[in-house]
Amino acid sequence: MKKRFWQCGLLVLMLAVVGLGFGIAPATAGDSDKCIECHSKVSPGQVQDWKVSKHHEEEVGCADCHGTKHDKAENANLAQLPDEHVCKECHEEQFDSFIKGKHNVGWTSMNALPITHVEPDELMEGGRGCGGCHNMGIKTEAQKKAQHDKGYRYQNNSCDECHTRHSFSKKEAQDPRACRQCHMGYDHPQWEMWSSSKHGSRWFSRLAGHLPKDAPAPTCQTCHLPDGTHNNHTAWGFLGVRLPLPQDKQWAADQVTILKALGVLDPNTGKPTARLEAVKAVDLARLTKEAFDTERNKMIKVCSRCHSEKYARTQLEMGDSMMKKADRLLAQGIDIVAGLYKDGILKKRNAQAFAYPDFLYFLRTDYAKADGNSYKTLPGETSHIEQVLFRMYMKHRMRTYQGQFHVNPDYAYWYGWAAMVDDLGEIKDLAATLRAEHQK
Ligand code: HEC
Ligand code: HEC
Ligand code: HEC
Ligand code: HEC
Ligand code: HEC
Ligand code: HEC
Ligand code: HEC
Ligand code: HEC
Repeated sequence: MKKRFWQCGLLVLMLAVVGLGFGIAPATAGDSDKCIECHSKVSPGQVQDWKVSKHHEEEVGCADCHGTKHDKAENANLAQLPDEHVCKECHEEQFDSFIKGKHNVGWTSMNALPITHVEPDELMEGGRGCGGCHNMGIKTEAQKKAQHDKGYRYQNNSCDECHTRHSFSKKEAQDPRACRQCHMGYDHPQWEMWSSSKHGSRWFSRLAGHLPKDAPAPTCQTCHLPDGTHNNHTAWGFLGVRLPLPQDKQWAADQVTILKALGVLDPNTGKPTARLEAVKAVDLARLTKEAFDTERNKMIKVCSRCHSEKYARTQLEMGDSMMKKADRLLAQGIDIVAGLYKDGILKKRNAQAFAYPDFLYFLRTDYAKADGNSYKTLPGETSHIEQVLFRMYMKHRMRTYQGQFHVNPDYAYWYGWAAMVDDLGEIKDLAATLRAEHQK
């Protein structure tokens, strides 16, 4: 500990020098005394939280992260809110690993979607809704400016999403519940799937003392952040599309249909659109076989700590074949809705690029424009059938393959596959009604 303290002292000195570049006034030991004295009255719980931290033990004080410019109640606006570069001064290893991972593109990928710019700012820059989970990744100066120009001051740091301020605890981040706030719910219920699977059940049993404390029970971190890495990637990723296209002809055709609905391929010509570049920029899909296999093999290695390799491989290959079967259902749904556009029953609206469903508008099937008028929905601008199609993609296809990969029987079947079958039935029914009405 003593040695670490001196290392830290050196780092504080370095921070003092570098800090000037980031606008954080250099802090010296003692600078935080006044902060703590006053904040013990202003926000005692916060000071208590810092007091239980390693930072307190190692004399990393308020001023090291917030600067010294704010020194009285009247000038709280001068307090600096530290971004990840401030943490980097003392935690370079974790910072360097974090920037290689998918979490580092969370903010950018959220902003790459058209939906983000037609929904309320409170749900984005404000840090609820999408922005509450996608405050992940180092923001560029332009991104920070856009946020501050809209009047939002907080949400400058992603490191505090797993080890929360101000205790900044390693143990908290090792707990799978640290992932729960974001990896849950509508389109990525990994928390629900894992916690009710055998893997999660063992973890809870162990927590309750019903299993010995060294009995294996894999957590999110065991499989996705092994050995202290901050770099997270999976083979399929979230969208469940990849290049090169699968060998199987029908599956390849179905993936092309899905890529059209994602707006990555032009529905008329099948050629890539400008969106493909955006998808590449934020690493939304593995673009080579090697990239896919690297992630897949890393995962097999993790499973093989507790299972035979053959067992693990069989389990993950079942995930792939369920993806194929789910794609068959989804592509049929997309084709039915695309047929309604083709026959003029559904018409291109507002900011829609093609007369074709566009998944990146989520449930906003009015295809609102980002022109400040986006909350005004005119009658006839929405189409329920497209909302059912979106649900089939975003909620139920996700559950079908995610449930398979997370070893959860109920998510894979009732909440996933069976619900997709149900959606397809509803889409067929709605399309028949729309066609009949159109003939009148
Ligand atoms: C004399 C009292 C006092 C002192 C000294 C003081 N603060 Fe504050 N600080 C406040 C008050 C009051 C607020 C505003 C609280 C509120 O909005 O409810 C505040 C707010 C803050 C904020 C939040 C700013 C925001 O925009 O929400 C930070 C960060 C902060 N202080 C850090 C520090 C640090 C670091 C120091 C020492 C360098 C310090 N404070 C010294 C009273 C003090
Ligand atoms: C290791 C760095 C670090 C230290 C040390 C630190 N903070 Fe913070 N603090 C942060 C981060 C990160 C944020 C979140 C910034 C954001 O969201 O933009 C924050 C936010 C805040 C806020 C505003 C948000 C809120 O929850 O109210 C206050 C007030 C604050 N800190 C006070 C303090 C005080 C007082 C101390 C010392 C007892 C302290 N901080 C020590 C990193 C630190
Ligand atoms: C001035 C140096 C300094 C700064 C700045 C700093 N830390 Fe630390 N931090 C330390 C030291 C020293 C330790 C204790 C030794 C260690 O675990 O590396 C520590 C420990 C930690 C731990 C492990 C705690 C545990 O329970 O073992 C986490 C997590 C952490 N810091 C996160 C952060 C984050 C996030 C930021 C930025 C908001 C930050 N630190 C900024 C010096 C710093
Ligand atoms: C509850 C937290 C949460 C909310 C709310 C949320 N997201 Fe996400 N988002 C995530 C998580 C977690 C992932 C990664 C899921 C996965 O891989 O299974 C993700 C994935 C994504 C991806 C794909 C990233 C990739 O690499 O494939 C995009 C784009 C995205 N979200 C945009 C949005 C937008 C836009 C909104 C709001 C309309 C939103 N998200 C709302 C947590 C959230
Ligand atoms: C997705 C969640 C997550 C995010 C985001 C995150 N961490 Fe961590 N962090 C962890 C986990 C999990 C551990 C424990 C690793 C282990 O088991 O050794 C950890 C451990 C640490 C430690 C303690 C290392 C040690 O072994 O003593 C530090 C320091 C740290 N993180 C800094 C950071 C910094 C800096 C950032 C932002 C650049 C960051 N973390 C972002 C999950 C996260
Ligand atoms: C036993 C290992 C294991 C555990 C535990 C685990 N996962 Fe996964 N996870 C996987 C596998 C395998 C995949 C699919 C990898 C692939 O595409 O080849 C995956 C995929 C993911 C994805 C990408 C989308 C998806 O669901 O397919 C996210 C995000 C994710 N996991 C988060 C989590 C979170 C959060 C937890 C804890 C609540 C967790 N995982 C627990 C093995 C695990
Ligand atoms: C504050 C919200 C948040 C927390 C907490 C969080 N994540 Fe994530 N995670 C996200 C978002 C957002 C994405 C998608 C990033 C993007 O846009 O590509 C993501 C992506 C991932 C992926 C990549 C899936 C892929 O596409 O390949 C994995 C794996 C993952 N997270 C694991 C974890 C684990 C494990 C934890 C807990 C230690 C955790 N996350 C905590 C928000 C979060
Ligand atoms: C840290 C150890 C550990 C790791 C890593 C691990 N598992 Fe498990 N797994 C277990 C234990 C323990 C059980 C419960 C006993 C059993 O059924 O074998 C289990 C059970 C299972 C089951 C059976 C569930 C049921 O319903 O009977 C499957 C399938 C499975 N694991 C797949 C995987 C896959 C795939 C991976 C890698 C992505 C993986 N496991 C990683 C420990 C682990």
